[in-house]
Amino acid sequence: MLPLSDSPVSPQKPQNPESDRKNSFTLLKHHLPRAWLIFFVFFLQILLLLLARNFHISAVLSTRQTLPVSPAIAAVHGGGTSECPSGKVFVYDLPPYFNTELLENCHELNPWGSRCDTYSNDGLGRRATKLAGVIPESLAGAWFWTDQFASEIIYHNRMLNYRCRTLDAESATAFYIPFYAGLAVGKYLWTENYTADDRDRHCRTMLKWVHDQPYWKKSDGWDHFITMGRITWDFRRSKEQGWGSRCIYLPGMRNITRLLIERNSWDYFDVGVPYPTGFHPSSPSDVTTWQDFVRTRTRATLFCFAGATRGLIKNDFRGLLLDQCYNSSGSCRVVDCGGSKCSNGTSLILESFLGSEFCLQPRGDSFTRRSIFDCMIAGSIPVFFWNRTAYSQYEWFLPGRPESYSVFIDKNEILNGKSIKGVLEKFKGDEVRKMREKVIEYIPRIVYAKPHEGLEGMKDAFDVAVEGVLNRIKDQEQEGFKW
Ligand SMILES: *[C@@H]1O[C@H](CO)[C@@H](O)[C@H](O)[C@H]1NC(C)=O
Ligand SMILES: *[C@@H]1O[C@H](CO)[C@@H](O)[C@H](O)[C@H]1NC(C)=O
Ligand SMILES: *[C@@H]1O[C@H](CO)[C@@H](O)[C@H](O)[C@H]1NC(C)=O
Ligand SMILES: *[C@@H]1O[C@H](CO)[C@@H](O)[C@H](O)[C@H]1NC(C)=O
Ligand SMILES: *[C@@H]1O[C@H](CO)[C@@H](O)[C@H](O)[C@H]1NC(C)=O
Repeated sequence: MLPLSDSPVSPQKPQNPESDRKNSFTLLKHHLPRAWLIFFVFFLQILLLLLARNFHISAVLSTRQTLPVSPAIAAVHGGGTSECPSGKVFVYDLPPYFNTELLENCHELNPWGSRCDTYSNDGLGRRATKLAGVIPESLAGAWFWTDQFASEIIYHNRMLNYRCRTLDAESATAFYIPFYAGLAVGKYLWTENYTADDRDRHCRTMLKWVHDQPYWKKSDGWDHFITMGRITWDFRRSKEQGWGSRCIYLPGMRNITRLLIERNSWDYFDVGVPYPTGFHPSSPSDVTTWQDFVRTRTRATLFCFAGATRGLIKNDFRGLLLDQCYNSSGSCRVVDCGGSKCSNGTSLILESFLGSEFCLQPRGDSFTRRSIFDCMIAGSIPVFFWNRTAYSQYEWFLPGRPESYSVFIDKNEILNGKSIKGVLEKFKGDEVRKMREKVIEYIPRIVYAKPHEGLEGMKDAFDVAVEGVLNRIKDQEQEGFKW
């Protein structure tokens, strides 16, 4: 997890896609006579009416527990475009070398021991039995020790059963490449016995395979997307001896949209998606039970900090936070995750988030941390010190106004001695309640559901991500968008 390079590299983000869209609408208006517009609106209303009816019928039909055919496959065969207004996804059937074979060799994915438990349960990991007594009993089956790098496996399983998956490539809006880019490189990151070429091999071969498919040419790959389970910097090696693979820098990767737990904020093709947490609800009622639970916690401490402290190096930012925390006489709770104390399953982190009004989220080795989502899922209000920790990472998943759900304290103010306790104490009870309510409202959008079909009638992080990609691909069809 070596971050580095803030430099704006590779493809630049368009200046302002929002205004582009507005401009093109204005353009449209000028060219269409008024009568056509009226007709168009009328037509839309009819369509909506039909849609509503269709939706009702399909909702009644898809009692997924009893049907032998999953609703996704039903949609593949029966569904018109009505249930998938943003279009459908075609999933490439990659050779096992690129995904399942990596998973089958889980015992050799890293040098410190087997990862087979880590990625068991379809990527969710072992059941978190140690959380009994901390979480509501009815949700015991919804918590796992999920690895923060498991997203590529989770997305793959969900995609195969996605409501808007199509088996007919001709009718697809988007093409999904189920390559386990993170697992493929993870194995080669840590020992000197491997070469740069070892780290790039899977990715390079995958790109060749994909470019040879007939559907690549349709849009030069602009309608292709992939999940890469590690942070973007693990795939951006610029020098032969550097860290990670060159996967994102390989020429064939240029137009592929990448779902990553940490994006490069300057790269349009990088999309930030929530880190997988341990909570994987099976139903919307699991979600509401959990939301009610976190809403009614007694939060005895004002704020908390969970993380490795890096041995308190002088000037290390996390060291400063830790000092402040220890010095806040009972207002702050510390969970020291030094070494690997928090990596093999402890309820301490969840307990401290559940018991605190706010949680501190400094940058770590890279800009983001899984802890952001652990914190928010527990209904604790995140405190950020860098904009790139969340605001310019997860725009599709978090509220648009940062101050509605989080507190921002510029890192320089902390370096100049500003008291965090002082800042947080100034918020009044009802302001805190409002922010917490916003955090709780967004929980569904930042969790990954357990069933491969997703949650009935509720969008989770996967749904938001894929719909986001589909909508982006539509936007790209505007004249002159692609570069
Ligand atoms: C690296 O290679 C050497 C020689 O082949 C071998 O003895 C050693 O165990 C290897 N180290 C690791 C960490 O795989
Ligand atoms: C990416 O898209 C551009 C513009 O549409 C195209 O010229 C280029 O060949 C594409 N790159 C690849 C690797 O297909
Ligand atoms: C701890 O708090 C006291 C009083 O609030 C303050 O004088 C002192 O400078 C603080 N120490 C650190 C390391 O922040
Ligand atoms: C977690 O690690 C601690 C110490 O490293 C060990 O004592 C404990 O048994 C481990 N627990 C599990 C479930 O592996
Ligand atoms: C960072 O985010 C905060 C809170 O939204 C905002 O006030 C500030 O202007 C941002 N800073 C930069 C450099 O964008």
